[in-house]
Amino acid sequence: MLSIAKAQSAPLSEFPQHFLSVADLSREQVLEVFALAAELKQKAAPLLAGKQAALLFEKPSLRTRVSFEAGLSRLGGHAIYLDHQAQRLGAREAVKDYAKNLERWVDVLVARVFSHKTLAELAAHSRIPVVNALSDQEHPCQALADFFTLAEQGLDLGSLKLAYVGDGNNVCQSLVLLAAIFGCQMTVVTPWGYEPDADLMLKAGDIAKASGAVIKLGHDTAMLAGHDAVYTDTWASMGQESEHDDRVRLFSALQVNEKLMQGQGLKYFMHCLPAHRGEEVTDAVIDGPGSLVYEQAENRMHVQNALLALLLG
Ligand code: CP
Ligand code: NVA
Repeated sequence: MLSIAKAQSAPLSEFPQHFLSVADLSREQVLEVFALAAELKQKAAPLLAGKQAALLFEKPSLRTRVSFEAGLSRLGGHAIYLDHQAQRLGAREAVKDYAKNLERWVDVLVARVFSHKTLAELAAHSRIPVVNALSDQEHPCQALADFFTLAEQGLDLGSLKLAYVGDGNNVCQSLVLLAAIFGCQMTVVTPWGYEPDADLMLKAGDIAKASGAVIKLGHDTAMLAGHDAVYTDTWASMGQESEHDDRVRLFSALQVNEKLMQGQGLKYFMHCLPAHRGEEVTDAVIDGPGSLVYEQAENRMHVQNALLALLLG
């Protein structure tokens, strides 16, 4: 918890209005979130008393929905769940009108959307904060909880070596940006054609110039050797169910199993969940001694609570 303890003496800084990307926060602001999350994990405080959040979900969720609902309630706030799985945002009325109505009643919008553009549109028309609860581009709340979890294990976030293996999409992209912010070494191994977005990698590269981060991309699991932790995610994300069988064939060499963990000397296993046991990870690894998956899930709530408290001032 070294870096979390350090953050407690960090100067307070103004938080952005919205949290759509990990890159919306500076390293110091992430550390502020972690310091408050560590306090709130120890003891709840009524920091969100009287605050209302609207949770807008175009896709299913267990962890994100429950961690926001339970988290708001834990800090004295209230969540209103709006199910948009049958009808996407913008279908019944314009996204602009959606934002302009909700801002009259609630204090923050938390949205899980297919297209990141929907989040940007909500944010453009909303006077209240918009928080990304997963888009096609990023899962920033997840990445915050993941790095907080690594810090809890006693790992120094500045010298962390994090490996990601699988699809280089939303979760991976938020992890890459946070690794860049912290100055980590991060290696991403994907099948050809499934690398993180080129523009996002350029952005991570710019951040890395200042932080000293080293981000490597490749296609061979031999590159995972010597990392502190290996992270994976589903091979077929929500909305890609029809591609499942093709993806299983394409990604199968990237399964995280005991042979990979032991062969490459990997101590910790991480996954945002939901996991597809027997596909991207075996039971032996996800249930094994190095698995952090339920700590990650638990920390979603504490990190998001800290984030909401800081965004809402
Ligand atoms: N990790 C995560 O966001 O899980 P859910 O899809 O269940 O919310
Ligand atoms: N990549 C996954 C993450 C789920 C939390 C998806 O988009 O479905």
